[in-house]
This record gives sequence, structure tokens and C-alpha cells, in this order.
Amino acid sequence: MLNVNDLNKKLLEAQYAVRGKIVIKAQELEEQGKKIIYCNIGNPQALKQKPMTYVREVLSLMEFPDLLNDDNFLKGYHKDSVERARFILKNVPGGVGAYSQSAGIPFIRKAVAEFIEKRDNIPAEKERIILTDGASKGVQAVIMSLLKNENDGVMIPIPQYPLYSATLTLYGGKQVDYYLDEQNSWQLNEKVLEDSFLNAKKNGINPVAISVINPGNPTGAVLSYDNIKMILNFAKKYNLSVLADEVYQENIYREGLKFYSFAKVAHDLGITDVPLFSFHSMSKGYLGECGHRAGYFELRNIPQDVLEQFIKLQSISLCSNVIGQIATYLMVSPPKEGDESFELYVKEKDGILKDLKTKAEILGKGLNAVNGMTCEIPQGAMYAFVKFELPHKQGVDPLKLSEEERLKYESGRDNKYCMQLLEETGICVVPGSGFGQLPNTLHFRTTFLPPRDEIETLVEKMKEFHIKYINNPENFN
Ligand SMILES: Cc1ncc(COP(=O)(O)O)c(C=O)c1O
Repeated sequence: MLNVNDLNKKLLEAQYAVRGKIVIKAQELEEQGKKIIYCNIGNPQALKQKPMTYVREVLSLMEFPDLLNDDNFLKGYHKDSVERARFILKNVPGGVGAYSQSAGIPFIRKAVAEFIEKRDNIPAEKERIILTDGASKGVQAVIMSLLKNENDGVMIPIPQYPLYSATLTLYGGKQVDYYLDEQNSWQLNEKVLEDSFLNAKKNGINPVAISVINPGNPTGAVLSYDNIKMILNFAKKYNLSVLADEVYQENIYREGLKFYSFAKVAHDLGITDVPLFSFHSMSKGYLGECGHRAGYFELRNIPQDVLEQFIKLQSISLCSNVIGQIATYLMVSPPKEGDESFELYVKEKDGILKDLKTKAEILGKGLNAVNGMTCEIPQGAMYAFVKFELPHKQGVDPLKLSEEERLKYESGRDNKYCMQLLEETGICVVPGSGFGQLPNTLHFRTTFLPPRDEIETLVEKMKEFHIKYINNPENFN
């Protein structure tokens, strides 16, 4: 028999809290008939968000092109969706059942480059776009490729999205934490970055890259133009590559805030010597097509021979899934004004984003009103990273714990709290220790994706639960 201990140790060590023990328990409880409010993962369509009509009209014709000959059937479709489907199929002669070129279908890479040019008003090259199965695969490809030596590491935010820590564990890279500034709406702080880098160096670690998530997961923060400028200059000073995770670029709710891409800021600053990998996905925004595994990454300031190695890496798994590539095409080339489906597209898009904004506020304001809980009202993305306070366990002085003991103590506390929250209320959130948090603080991450009435119920239930939990001495024995 194959024993678990026969497996790669790095796989055994990798952790992915977003789908960890608490979620497994939630599924068990659901099977037993308990109503669960899933707030553990940014999976909008699993929480009743409707897919965009335009996307599904075109995709449905991709899988079964014979429908394009059935005029009666097509009466129910928007004219431009049908034209779009014909255009795509003409340019994908093998259809969706054939492998494509490794880096992706050429006209789709071109459409992505044009999307970036239009979004940022900067030049972009189609040769430097690689289509991937969601942003995750792109991040993994880049991290794997950048780790040359055993002591190489990547600077990652704390709190972070565990794709980063888990990928580093899988590929044997060193995780170099930098804390985000909770007091300053979770922006990055230059001194913190410097300290983290120099400290890593002192410990024999060689950071080769910094990864930044903007808008932030789990923080919900939107980085300012100046903050991005500071990060790029920091990367330049220390010869770091930048991994810019921009999957939430459409999810910005706070008035006056705007998404700035790293590519745009680097271009404005005339930075041509900081290797930049930018990731985008169809899983988030208003599209929420997580299941289609659609995404891309753009490589900037990278020489031709390096680019070729990235394309070779793609070729080892042949290509990303073709339906996902076509979905990415639909993301970057939505209907235009004058197209029959334009009005509906705008209506659906605005409806989804408005709803998310309202829910972000209900959740943020509601939880801030709970005694012992604080959170930034999410500026963007799909999450709030909520800080909460608990009495310490009897007889424990946290300041006397070693680093290892402290991490164990804190993850024990936030896991116990979240597990009990699930068992008593059916609300499934992720403990802060799964993302990392400042020493001596406790958090949980919740999405605000469930329908509005469920968010209102969730706030009420969390409040009741928190009061009950802290008043029960058994929880702190
Ligand atoms: C910051 C961040 N990056 C990447 C991903 C993965 O996205 P995809 O579905 O495109 O792989 C997620 C998913 O939640 C995310 O939050």
C-alpha cells in the first residue's frame, strides 16, 4: 500500500487554510442537514451570483457549434453573441476539443494585450501574454521558475492568500514575510519591507521576488498609486522581481479609490529593469467564473530567452484549457456600445458590483459594531479580515511563549473560535492564522458574497455568538 509518508514531504507540509478542516466540517454538517453560510472562499457563483448572459451565450455555442446552424434556436440569443461565437470558431479551427498553442490562442493573447493597452494607456505586447488555467497556475509557474537556489525566497504579505505560502512550500522556496499595515488601511510600509528584506539576508535567505496582492486578499485593501511606486522602487533597489496579483482589479467599492496596475505605474516611472509578472483572472470581478479556470499573466522587463523558458514550461502541460482561454477572451472583449447585448451586459455588471458594495458595507459596519471586533470596511476584493479579541487562556502569559509556542497557541485559539462559530451558527469563515497575522492578534476572514439577507443574518448571528463565546469561561480553561 502507498503510505502517506511515502509522499513528497513538501506536499505533506503545504497548507491551504481556505479549504482546510473547518470547511470539511462544514460539508459534513451540511450533509447532516444543517444550513451553512459559506463565507470561506471567494467563489461567487457558488453563492448564487448569476453568470453574465453574454459569457454563457457565447460559451454554450463553443461546445456545440452545430447550434449555429439552427436559426430557430438562435432566436433566443443576442445577435452579437452569435457573431462573436462565429468569429471565435473561425479563429480556433480545431474547436474547443483540440489542444491550442502552448502560450494560448494567438488572437486571444492579442486581445489581452489590447485590453491592457486600453486599461492603462500603455503599450503591451501579445508575445508577452501567457494564458493559464486561472491565475493560480500562473503564480505557481512564476514562483517555481524564480527559485534557483535552496536559500532563495519570495517576500509575501502577511496576511496573505495561502496560494503563496503553499506554493513556496511545494517548490522548496523560503517564505519571507512582510506585514501589511493594519493601522494604515493595510497598505505596504517601506520600513517594514526593508526590515523584512535585511532580516532575511541576515538569516542567509536570498529574496528573489516580492509578491503583492492588489486589491488585497484577505485585507480588502486597494493600494494607492504612491504605495505601488514605493514598492517598485524598493524592488529596483534590491533587484527583486515583482509578482502583481491583480485578480480583484474590478472589485473596488470605496468612492475615490481607483485600481492602478503595477504595469502602468512602472511605465509611468520609466522602470525597465524590474521584472514584472502581472496576474489576472476571470474568477473574480463581476464575472465570477471560477469554475472555468480562466486567466493570464503578462511578463514585462523580461528578455526574450527568459520568456521562451516560460513558454516552454507551459508547453510541458501542452496548453491551458481552451474553453477557459475563450472565457478570458470574453472577459477582455466585452460587448461594445451599439451591440445588442451591450445594455444587458452593463445592467448585469453594475447590478453585481453595486450589490457587492452594499454587502461590503453591511458586513463591515455590522461587525465593527460588535464589542471586541474591528475591521476595515472592505475597500475592494471580496473579503473582510476581522480582528477580534478574546481573553487569554488561564495561566498563559503570551509574552513568555517562544515563537513556535505562540503560533501554536494563536492558531489553536482562532481555529477553536471559528470551529465553534460553524457548529453553533452554520457560518463558515477561515481562521486568521491560515493567512498569517501580527503576533498577539486574532482575526478571521469572511467573504461578503452570500445574498444580502444572509449577510444581515450573519452579522446578527456573529454578534450573539461572540458575546456568548467570551462569556463562557470553559472556552478559556
Ligand atoms: C489573491 C488571489 N489570487 C489568485 C487567486 C486564484 O484565482 P484563480 O481562480 O484565477 O486561480 C485567488 C482566488 O481566490 C486570489 O484570491
